[in-house]
Amino acid sequence: MVFSQCCVTPEMEAYVASQVSEFRFKHIQGVRQSAQSLAKRWQAPADKTDLAALFHDVAREWPLARLLAYAREKGMSIRPQDEKYPILLHGAVAVHLLEQTFGLRDEEVAEAMRVHTTGFPGMGLVAKILFVADAIEPGRSHIEVTRLRMLADKDLEQAVTEVLKEQLAYIRKREADIDPWTLELATERGIQTHRDKDRC
Ligand SMILES: [Fe+2]
Ligand SMILES: [Fe+2]
Repeated sequence: MVFSQCCVTPEMEAYVASQVSEFRFKHIQGVRQSAQSLAKRWQAPADKTDLAALFHDVAREWPLARLLAYAREKGMSIRPQDEKYPILLHGAVAVHLLEQTFGLRDEEVAEAMRVHTTGFPGMGLVAKILFVADAIEPGRSHIEVTRLRMLADKDLEQAVTEVLKEQLAYIRKREADIDPWTLELATERGIQTHRDKDRC
């Protein structure tokens, strides 16, 4: 199906709702709400932004082994980091499910879903909006969220950088590895990471 013929349909909403818990679906609806308002504010294509927001976490609750098995079975690209943390595959699996289930493939939507957890250097407008919306949706209540919501309305680029900084702080606290894509995004934005510091 040509993407321009499509927008989110009740069937798509019902499909996503059938794949996730009530808790997750509420988060997804919140992300859609934030993404729609950012799309309007920053002149992004509303239909693509909404579709990416609706599908981004459709596979978020799959067991890790299922994510990895699905990615292998479908011949998807799997990075060493994905092997180590298969949860990172949930965005890429969502891209595949959207294509398989509804015959839809659009590069901006696919990129946004694929990198929504990690970010990616040079990511497009739809991807930036999803990356930020995922962090500021109405269900989020972390300490910085009010400031981030205001910032996203004022300066989307800066909001991406701030969401990234929050993620890096979280990764550092958990003493987890920084995803190579996240690291590249940090480099793009001139942010020093603990990995850089460790190197000294
Ligand atoms: Fe996610
Ligand atoms: Fe999410």
